[in-house]
Amino acid sequence: MNVAPRLADLAGDAASPTLLTLDRVSISYPTRDGTLTAVEDVSLALSTGERLVLLGPSGCGKSTLLRAVGGFLKPSTGEIRINGEPIGAPSPDRMTVFQEFDQLLPWRTVLGNVRYALERGRSLSRREAEAVARGWLKRVGLKNFVDAFPHTLSGGMKQRVAIARAFALEPALLLMDEPFAALDALTRRQMQDELLKLCEETGSTALFVTHGIDEAIRVGTRILALTPHPGRLAATFDVPPGSRTRGTTAFAELEQKIQQAVFADPELDHG
Ligand SMILES: Nc1ncnc2c1ncn2[C@@H]1O[C@H](COP(=O)(O)OP(=O)(O)OP(=O)(O)O)[C@@H](O)[C@H]1O
Ligand SMILES: [Mg+2]
Repeated sequence: MNVAPRLADLAGDAASPTLLTLDRVSISYPTRDGTLTAVEDVSLALSTGERLVLLGPSGCGKSTLLRAVGGFLKPSTGEIRINGEPIGAPSPDRMTVFQEFDQLLPWRTVLGNVRYALERGRSLSRREAEAVARGWLKRVGLKNFVDAFPHTLSGGMKQRVAIARAFALEPALLLMDEPFAALDALTRRQMQDELLKLCEETGSTALFVTHGIDEAIRVGTRILALTPHPGRLAATFDVPPGSRTRGTTAFAELEQKIQQAVFADPELDHG
């Protein structure tokens, strides 16, 4: 699949308004010998309420793309728009949950981390922010750890705090950069399930990156496969709600379909 899919082909649910568009986005980094193209000619459209997963191997530019949508770096060519407006600086309207466990402020408690983000990002008073923060920390199972400092938490608990903080801000778009990649397999599964529940309950719109096919199916409503370095869009898969339950034939069939597409296409051969 050499030809990048057209933007129109990549639009999601036509009934929902488009929230995010990437139009022929390429991103390069300066290097000692010139430039390195990390992402090439990526176009996509994300509708409100969708959970779009970018699936691709290590180094294909997933984090680069997500950082650009977050406003942390600018595309070399092409355009990113949110609600029709060119994307600006990072904003609490696009909250990112990163893979690394060090995304919390170490000198603030669990409650302090979420409350501080709310005071800054949603301009809530300290009292209001505290109430909202406690509510979200309870929802992610950390009711009894609100006064703990990040260094006393497990990796999974730290990611729960980061997820609570992201949801608490009620962003138009949640950005997730392999938030569970560094967790053990059991915890990862549990947290995928919890995230799915939160997304469904809140109707959140999310852009999620992963290199795991099973994770992509579990959390996404649509999956875009990227080629290995430099990342280009290669194939798209809808995830019907019936395919989202592990252990079902529908889940296994979709997993196999994606695997076959990824490994049958030399462009997509992730080796
Ligand atoms: N700050 C940077 N300066 C130069 N090159 C970079 C920089 N960040 C990433 N790259 C390069 O861009 C390419 C894409 O990197 P990126 O981190 O986006 O990949 P990824 O798909 O997120 O990989 P992983 O699954 O390992 O996280 C890689 O070749 C990487 O070496
Ligand atoms: Mg990455």
